[in-house]
Amino acid sequence: MPVSRRALLSGIGASLGAALPRPAFASDAGARLFRANRAAGARPAGELAGDEAYWSEIARAFDTDRTLVNLNNGGCSPAPAHVLEAMIRDLRFSNEIPVHHMWNVLEPRIESVRRELAAEFGCDPEEMAITRNASEALETLIFGIDLQPGDEVVLTNQNYPRMITSWEQRARRDRIVLRQISFPVPPPSAADIVERFRRAITPRTRVLEVTHITNLTGQILPVRDIVRMARDRGIEVFVDGAHAFAHFPFRRDDLECDYYGTSLHKWLFAPIGTGFLYVRREKQKGIWPLMAAPASMDENVRKYEEIGTHPAANHNAIAAAITFHRGIGSARKAARLRLLRDRWARRLLAADRRVSVLTPLNSAESCGIALVRVEGLPTERLQAYLWERHRIMTTPILHPEFDGLRITPNVYTTLDEIDRFSETMEGVIARGLP
Ligand SMILES: Cc1ncc(COP(=O)(O)O)c(C=O)c1O
Repeated sequence: MPVSRRALLSGIGASLGAALPRPAFASDAGARLFRANRAAGARPAGELAGDEAYWSEIARAFDTDRTLVNLNNGGCSPAPAHVLEAMIRDLRFSNEIPVHHMWNVLEPRIESVRRELAAEFGCDPEEMAITRNASEALETLIFGIDLQPGDEVVLTNQNYPRMITSWEQRARRDRIVLRQISFPVPPPSAADIVERFRRAITPRTRVLEVTHITNLTGQILPVRDIVRMARDRGIEVFVDGAHAFAHFPFRRDDLECDYYGTSLHKWLFAPIGTGFLYVRREKQKGIWPLMAAPASMDENVRKYEEIGTHPAANHNAIAAAITFHRGIGSARKAARLRLLRDRWARRLLAADRRVSVLTPLNSAESCGIALVRVEGLPTERLQAYLWERHRIMTTPILHPEFDGLRITPNVYTTLDEIDRFSETMEGVIARGLP
């Protein structure tokens, strides 16, 4: 939906805070979004997805190095220049007198960030805790729930390795039992994934951990169906949304989940070191914080933010990133990312029968992330070749059951860059690796 100039600029102004000088980049970002939105008009997201006049304005909000092609925006994303600048400005301001500027002036502004993140996710602000990343959010859940020896937890062998490691440590320490299930890539259906979780459940199962979208192939999992199936059995479901939030449109009520952890330095384009933990109000008493909080905070979501001295600048800059995200709009962002995905994936699939894409190319099951494999070209050597010879950054995925190159463009990726990647791949597919 197009946003008016006044709404856009007042949003940016509000996120920057009235008491501090406005960084030079802010008005530039606002002007770029305004120009982009004027170019967009009322066209639907799908139609706008291939319009370079619109997306080149968005791209200019980022200070990217165009001597290389970054197709690993899944690891973490650059922040738009004005978002970075907002953080740097606050760091400088803090440093003048941290005990006052950081603690008294900047830290209380976390409440605006909480309110806006809750509005985006679709929960109450009292259910939203700001963390430093998805790992912190999810480990709060993993180590925070009371479990007895012999209690069981079900996860897939495609959950994020750090989360699996966390559960394994808990199993060593507390003698809980982990059940790891496998599923094919791509899976035959969403129902098949739900059924695999269901079959792993026993009378001792207490928790399922589900990845909303996997970091391996970019597969979107049927979270709501898994949550419903588990809730009927009194089982908690922890959702790892590290790659999902602000990547494609959804809200809490679409998932019906009670717990959700995400990073904000991936798809919201907030500064590195930002994330959130959502815990439904009535569930908060049952999840201990990672760092201790007083009993009076048992039912206060801020207990998950009792992490000691930390920069306020990083989490406050989330506000500028939310405003930027809203300026584009979730539907437009997802439509662009899907167009970029299809542009390289369908071209490579058509180029050679040895190419396979292990990610379903449809809107329900994937968005900007996809995994490609070329029979006869070892993944790690292919990744090294693309980077060392062509300055194209991709991610090698080496899972015991499959492997391939993970390709993750961003909203600043141009069609030319996607085509450069495709051409380079076609060349190496035809001639082989040097
Ligand atoms: C699925 C998934 N979960 C959790 C994480 C951890 O995120 P962070 O390193 O930001 O804590 C990642 C990181 O890539 C991820 O892909």
